[in-house]
Amino acid sequence: MTGEVLITAENVGKRFPLRQGVLHRLSGQPAPAVHALNGVSLEIRRGETLGIVGESGCGKSTLARCLVRLHDCDAGRIVFEGQDIALLQGKVRRAFNRRVQMIFQDPYSSLNPRMKVRGILGEALGVHKMRPAAGIPGRIEELLALVRLNPDAADRYPHEFSGGQRQRIGIARALAVEPEVLVADELVSALDVSVQAQVVNLLLDLQERLHLTVVFVAHDLRLVRHISHRVAVMYLGKVVEIGPTEALFSAPRHPYTRALLDAAPELDPARRSRKVAARGELPSPINLPQGCLFHTRCPHAFDRCRTERPELSPRGTGHLAACHLADFGKPETRT
Ligand SMILES: Nc1ncnc2c1ncn2[C@@H]1O[C@H](COP(=O)(O)OP(=O)(O)OP(=O)(O)O)[C@@H](O)[C@H]1O
Ligand code: SF4
Ligand SMILES: [Mg+2]
Repeated sequence: MTGEVLITAENVGKRFPLRQGVLHRLSGQPAPAVHALNGVSLEIRRGETLGIVGESGCGKSTLARCLVRLHDCDAGRIVFEGQDIALLQGKVRRAFNRRVQMIFQDPYSSLNPRMKVRGILGEALGVHKMRPAAGIPGRIEELLALVRLNPDAADRYPHEFSGGQRQRIGIARALAVEPEVLVADELVSALDVSVQAQVVNLLLDLQERLHLTVVFVAHDLRLVRHISHRVAVMYLGKVVEIGPTEALFSAPRHPYTRALLDAAPELDPARRSRKVAARGELPSPINLPQGCLFHTRCPHAFDRCRTERPELSPRGTGHLAACHLADFGKPETRT
């Protein structure tokens, strides 16, 4: 899977300012903020599924929202087909909004409960004028078939469906505008485990049939491994490792990825308890550690880690890690 690069995140930063009291304002200290993204760099290639994993609060959803421009980033830039998405205007911006779609986690709240599925899909088709009026009923039927729902689903309301079926309707709505990129944030997290696999397999199938590019954000490492060609691991708003799925899962090259995999009960069904991914507390994104963001919890930290932040550097074919220990996890040196 080595398609051309479609989207590039270059050193993307996003802060959410906190309200500050009068005393703080008078103190002249920098305004406090949640540092949600702290220099995210990655490439998304046409036709691939890129998984994004990391502990709660590490910035996965913020990145997903920046990629579809629901948030504007406040440092760095996101480039789509060579153009900075923050600078898109008019027709090109509308085309970007159509070509890059987000599918939301919560199928309950994102579908209008007072509209039948026909209306929901018809509305999506209407916004970007995807079909002349006469073609809409046929297209609705096609879309339902694409997500494996019966044609009679068109005349029912969202509450008449199960959670998994509702999620399929959400996918059909996203597909109505014929996007090239789907950004799925915790697409199946709210569903029963038995239904999760069906929805994920549907997504895999659609991705191949429609040559979609998919960004799959999820907690569940097992699902991410199943669906992704490549995986990016985030920690405190930064990508600390990215690489081909099997290389990353079988020989992680960053101590945080190793900790995350070691703590994942879903990779080892015999261990059900949810261990934290690394020793010690996750630092607050309001006061980021100096140097390597992971140094406060890393069992391998040394002096340099406390002062110098490592950037992503090559570890193998298409595999990058941000750690001063270039040999960490190298198969022949692993202990
Ligand atoms: N709109 C917002 N306003 C203020 N802070 C926010 C906002 N959105 C996210 N944050 C903060 O930014 C950080 C990153 O949040 P984000 O939702 O991106 O993490 P996440 O990796 O998606 O977490 P989860 O796995 O729980 O979904 C968190 O500290 C969060 O509290
Ligand atoms: S740079 Fe240092 S602290 Fe950071 S992950 Fe590598 S060894 Fe650990
Ligand atoms: Mg999230």
